[in-house]
Amino acid sequence: MIYKRYTVTSALPYANGPIHIGHLAGVYVPADIYVRYLRSTDKDVVFIGGSDEHGVPITIKARQQGVTPQQIVDKYHGIIKESFREFGISFDIYSRTSNLVHHETADDFFRNLYNKGEFVEKFSMQYYDEENKQFLADRYITGTCPHCGNEKAYGDQCEKCGTTLNATDLINPRSAISGNAPVMKETRHWFLPLDKYESFLRHWILDTHKEDWKTNVYGQCKSWLDQGLQPRAVTRDLDWGVKLPSEIEGSEGKVLYVWFDAPIGYISATKELTPEWEKYWKDKESKLVHFIGKDNIVFHCIIFPAMLKAEGSFILPDNVPANEFMNLEGDKISTSRNWAVWLHEYLTDFPSRQDELRYVLCANAPETKDNDFTWKDYQAKNNNELLAIFGNFVNRTLVLTHKYFNGIVPELGEVNDNDKNTIEEINAFPQRIASSIENYRFREAINEMMNLARLGNKYLTENEPWKIFKTDENRVKTILNISLQICANLSILCEPFLPFTAGKLCTMLNINQQKWENAGKTDLMKEAHQLSEVGLLFQKIEDAEIEMQIQKLLDTKKANEEAAFVAKAAKTNIEYDDFAKIDLRVGCIIEAEKVPKTKKLLKLKIDTGIDQRTVVSGIAEFYEPENIIGQKVSILVNLAPKNLKGIESQGMILMAEDHDGKLCFVSPTLEVKSGSEIK
Ligand code: 2FM
Ligand code: ZN
Repeated sequence: MIYKRYTVTSALPYANGPIHIGHLAGVYVPADIYVRYLRSTDKDVVFIGGSDEHGVPITIKARQQGVTPQQIVDKYHGIIKESFREFGISFDIYSRTSNLVHHETADDFFRNLYNKGEFVEKFSMQYYDEENKQFLADRYITGTCPHCGNEKAYGDQCEKCGTTLNATDLINPRSAISGNAPVMKETRHWFLPLDKYESFLRHWILDTHKEDWKTNVYGQCKSWLDQGLQPRAVTRDLDWGVKLPSEIEGSEGKVLYVWFDAPIGYISATKELTPEWEKYWKDKESKLVHFIGKDNIVFHCIIFPAMLKAEGSFILPDNVPANEFMNLEGDKISTSRNWAVWLHEYLTDFPSRQDELRYVLCANAPETKDNDFTWKDYQAKNNNELLAIFGNFVNRTLVLTHKYFNGIVPELGEVNDNDKNTIEEINAFPQRIASSIENYRFREAINEMMNLARLGNKYLTENEPWKIFKTDENRVKTILNISLQICANLSILCEPFLPFTAGKLCTMLNINQQKWENAGKTDLMKEAHQLSEVGLLFQKIEDAEIEMQIQKLLDTKKANEEAAFVAKAAKTNIEYDDFAKIDLRVGCIIEAEKVPKTKKLLKLKIDTGIDQRTVVSGIAEFYEPENIIGQKVSILVNLAPKNLKGIESQGMILMAEDHDGKLCFVSPTLEVKSGSEIK
């Protein structure tokens, strides 16, 4: 089907923290590439974004910080919006769900379904915190996951095993506000009867989208549908969110469930953007595409479509190209563990290197499976691909044109077979890249774009204009003319992926940004056109910069381990007489050396006050022998001797083991004579 216009949405991030590379890789870079490409092909497109400002995590954060939820969302909405702007995510509007137009739109939507009798009203028993006089929705309740035993599972989901839960599934439930065990209390809620839409959804997804939806998306939907859909509550007992219409009996103290109001946010934002919003949402010739991460699939493929279908006048998504997750250095990105590369911090460390990150995140995008971002790979992709292939080709072409022809585009003379083949190859790129983008295969698309730069390098290398300038200036003119056409093509074809680079390249070529229809042509750079000065498109990333980032992550890991340390439970009681059998003394190390052919052992001579004796101790990884002479220690002097690596060890030094396995001496804090008893 040929569409007249496009409505492209990207998941509304929760405004309870800044955004990181996982957000960019999974959702916003692919969405932005798609939209920039559509604009370049002169399509009528709206690109919708905004902050999701409701939901329990926001209210919990506000409570923890002693501020209002509005203050939390104001802060993070600003930070998030700025990060998107800096990374060139070219929304037509970046809105927010706490604003009036959204509350009105969501209210209308709910009212409409309510009046049509689309909801089922149910009384049910729900957890209630008696101390705070509050029902405990979703994340306000924590407990043990019945599936994996995670003790910090939430009332709506276990983040460890990913299972969607009901609060009543949790073992040993606790209120996240007071920590108390909650009680059960009756409450009234409105449910969207998803079961009523099951057969429609089965047909729509399983029959009509088997071929064009990504297998991960299709598979998740199928598994939900195969389990059978249940009515789902769309209201909550909370005071932060879109309030229920007050004329509805029992509406007091209730708001719409955040996952009911958030996707309506796409519609509200479009309304805010243009009075013609309806054509983007209600005309069958508009193509609706939702860019999301995999944790949002059920909401965008099942629940929101059921809502739209129930309402009746809206189009349904044509595609939902959800990505899997981007991990960081082998570990899941986590806001609470600060295991992330935050966009605002990245830009402080790598100013003006937005495209470098966009490139790496797209080239490595988690399109079909979870993928890993590593700093070494980031460096390699920058230095060996962007710089060595793209940057190098453009630089060689421009420098040579300046050197030989004062920066004036030379004429295309006679073309040989190699030139003809190259021209033909150039012609074929736009269609190939377009097809990859249109099918949401952005990794393939960016690689193809780089292949054009590869072609340019190959062409220059094969023709070696620097070797023949003195003997055949006309031939050099043709070679550089063709090379400049490749540069101009790159400026068009790289724009969706690397918009800042495209801008710089156009400046150097002294041309305006051109549309996609011009790509593939080889007369974009006109003879006698004057180029501007040459600058660098990309810069080398040094080892030291990467090591600094890796160190930052190691520091985070260490801090997390420290924070996660929990002392082991005490051993079973013993009688004093058992303890009294132990003879512990203060001793002093007077000699120390490594035990040959071992990594862990030191041979120590200890002055125990009673005698001088040899003790073999497993501390070589933590102490250098020369640094511990004179060290006071606690020593167990009546331990039966034991042979270790051929040495008789006559006692044992007491060591404290830190959370990370590091050992350190247990010694008196004041000067105490060797031989003193420890009791
Ligand atoms: O997962 C999230 O971050 C949600 N805030 C996404 C919402 S997408 C849409 F429905 F608004
Ligand atoms: Zn679990």
